[in-house]
Amino acid sequence: MDFRTALKHGIAQLRAAHVSSDTLAAELLLLHATQRERTYIYSHPEAKLTSEEARTYENLLERRISGVPVQHLTGKQEFWGLPFDVTPDVLIPRPETEHLIEVALDRLALRELRAGRPNKNDGAGLLIADIGTGSGCIAIALAKELAQAQFVASDVSPSALEVARRNASKLSVSRRIQFVESNLFDSLFSLGYHYVLPPEGPSSRFRIPQEPTLFDMVISNPPYIGRREAPSLTREVRDHEPELALYGGEEGYEFYSDLIAQSAAHLKPGGLLVLELGHNSLPAVRPLLDAPLWTNVSVTNDLAGIPRVVAAEREPVAHDAYPSVG
Ligand SMILES: C[S@@+](CC[C@H](N)C(=O)[O-])C[C@H]1O[C@@H](n2cnc3c(N)ncnc32)[C@H](O)[C@@H]1O
Repeated sequence: MDFRTALKHGIAQLRAAHVSSDTLAAELLLLHATQRERTYIYSHPEAKLTSEEARTYENLLERRISGVPVQHLTGKQEFWGLPFDVTPDVLIPRPETEHLIEVALDRLALRELRAGRPNKNDGAGLLIADIGTGSGCIAIALAKELAQAQFVASDVSPSALEVARRNASKLSVSRRIQFVESNLFDSLFSLGYHYVLPPEGPSSRFRIPQEPTLFDMVISNPPYIGRREAPSLTREVRDHEPELALYGGEEGYEFYSDLIAQSAAHLKPGGLLVLELGHNSLPAVRPLLDAPLWTNVSVTNDLAGIPRVVAAEREPVAHDAYPSVG
C-alpha cells in the first residue's frame, strides 16, 4: 500500500465510524506508524509502506475507532507551540488553556509597566506556583517565556508528575521547576513555602516559624467538570482521561473555593491569581474573588465566547497587617 492509498483508506475508515477530525487523525496516525514527517507523505505519495508499518497503522486505526484518543496513540500533543509527551495519566493539554498563558503574561507585563519597569519581561525574581500541573504544560510554557522565573508545580498524582518531569527535562527547563506531590498547597509547607492565613482563613493550624516564602503568581487549570455532566462527555474524555483531572465535584466548581482561599494565603501582597474556568463556573467562582481580599478582577473569554480565564490580584496589604489569627 502506498502513502496516498493508506491515507485515503484511513480517512474512509474513521469517517465510517463517525470519528471526529477524521482527516487529521488519519494523517497523525500514519505519520506515527511510519515515523515520517508530514511533508514526506505529500512529497512521496507513491512511496510504499512496509508490511510492518501497514500493520501498525491498521492497529492504530482500530484503536482510534474503539475510542482511544489520537494523543494516547501517538503519545504527543502540542501546546503553546511546544511538543509535550502525554500518557493516560495526564490531561491532554487543551487549546483553551493557552488563554491562561496569554492572560498570565499580559497581567505580569501590566504589573511591570505599573511598577515603571516596562522593559523587564524575563521573569527575573519571580516565583510562580502551578497547581495541578498534569503534563506540566502551564509551568513549562511559562518557563519558556520567562527565562529567569522560578516555578513550583504541584499535583496529587505521582504518575502525572513523572510525565511533567519528563516534559520539563525534554524542553530544558527542569532546573527552574520544582515538581511536588501535593494536595493543593499542603506539602509545600514542609518544603519551606510557608504561608500566612488571612483573617477569614479556614483554620490557624499553621504557625509561621520564619519568614514565609510567598508566590508572585499562582496559576491553575483545576478539575472543573461536574460528575453529573459525565454522561454528556465524549467517550474519549470520559473513558480515557484521568478522573482526577476531570471532576471538580458533583457540580464541578467545588474545587475553586479551597484553591482560592489557599492561594490568598500563599500569594505576596499584590500577587496574581490566574485560573481556568469551566464552561459554567463563573457564577460560582466570581463571588470568591470579592473585595477586600482581591482586586483588579478580570474575566477573559475563549474563542467560543465562553468565560475561560479569571485573573485577580491579591490585595496589596502585607500579610502581617492582618490581625493575628489562632
Ligand atoms: C484539569 S487538569 C490540568 C492539567 C494541566 N495543568 C493542564 O492544564 O493541562 C487538573 C490537574 O489537577 C490535578 N489535581 C486534582 N486534584 C488535585 C489536588 N487536590 N491537588 C493538586 N492537584 C490536583 C490532577 O491530577 C490534574 O493533573
